[in-house]
Amino acid sequence: MSISAFGWETAALEAIAGIDLHGISALVTGGTSGIGAETARVLAGAGARVTITGRNLEAGRAVAARIAEEHRDAAVEVAGLELSDPASVAAFASQWAGPLHLLVNNAGIMALPERALSEGGHELQFATNHLGHFVLGTGLRAALAAGAAEAAAGVLGGARVVSLSSRGHLRAGIDFDDIDFNVRTYDPLIAYGQSKTANVLFAVEAARRWAADGITANAVHPGAILDTGLSRHMPPQTLTGIQATNTQSFKTVGQGAATSIVVATSPALSGVAGRYFEDCQESEVIPEGTPDIASHARGVAWYALDADDANRLWELSTRLVAAA
Ligand SMILES: NC(=O)c1ccc[n+]([C@@H]2O[C@H](COP(=O)([O-])OP(=O)(O)OC[C@H]3O[C@@H](n4cnc5c(N)ncnc54)[C@H](OP(=O)(O)O)[C@@H]3O)[C@@H](O)[C@H]2O)c1
Repeated sequence: MSISAFGWETAALEAIAGIDLHGISALVTGGTSGIGAETARVLAGAGARVTITGRNLEAGRAVAARIAEEHRDAAVEVAGLELSDPASVAAFASQWAGPLHLLVNNAGIMALPERALSEGGHELQFATNHLGHFVLGTGLRAALAAGAAEAAAGVLGGARVVSLSSRGHLRAGIDFDDIDFNVRTYDPLIAYGQSKTANVLFAVEAARRWAADGITANAVHPGAILDTGLSRHMPPQTLTGIQATNTQSFKTVGQGAATSIVVATSPALSGVAGRYFEDCQESEVIPEGTPDIASHARGVAWYALDADDANRLWELSTRLVAAA
């Protein structure tokens, strides 16, 4: 089905209509709540075997039980995963059994009010949102390549990786000299923005490095959705400030999962890689030299698609997780 009919209002269930995912194995990080739980529900409803990960296993089991109530033949598993701990993520990936067709790097944290560091000494949003998914994705590359080679992956045109970014990436590129805010003053939304730019750059570089394996990778902004756990760390005044700068109204969780579902499953995007989508469509690039990029309501910043920075971040991430 073409994605041309989809837009801001499209809900995930509408986006997947007519797509049969029986035989597809999917992994959704952060499936214990919010957009990830809805993404898992919709993928499982279309027949995919879905593994959801998170730290809160009780919440994950509740999500799986709700999906099972709705779809009696649904196959949903719940696994514990602490993304800020590269060793545990690597262990999880190494224990993954069988081919994987779809990896949705959805989990995330936002705007921690004070600078916090992971055990490995990295700013916690960067460590969780980017480094954790970097270790997971690279650890699962062989499983994704095996998935891409299976006949079942024909419906997807290979294996796919979806990286949840955010409009928040418009606030910040990567500061390669001071990723962890050791020198500059910590700012919760700049740190979040940096991590979300990293999510796009990861997709750009994974797309380039893994193309020969039949794996595509793209990034998405899900929209602004209030009814999730993402704002749990934010003081009310920060939340109010973000709401005030939002020129669009808020999406339901179903609408928020739609762009992930389109990018994960649409036959129209078979073979498409290294791009950024929002409202179920590919975004316009905001070119270098544009003033006040952070004030844009939509679009993808040029620096998030920069091939040199994508490679540089990949190399840096490899070193950082090796040293952790
Ligand atoms: N909501 C929005 O308006 C919005 C806008 C733009 C982008 N996004 C992006 O969309 C994604 C989903 O967000 P959401 O709104 O659905 O938020 P959410 O309800 O808070 O979901 C975040 C998920 O991430 C998991 N998670 C958090 N820290 C983790 C860690 N250290 N290790 C493993 N899992 C962890 C959480 O599970 P546990 O607590 O069980 O670990 C939870 O399932 C995020 O990447 C976010 O940046 C959301």
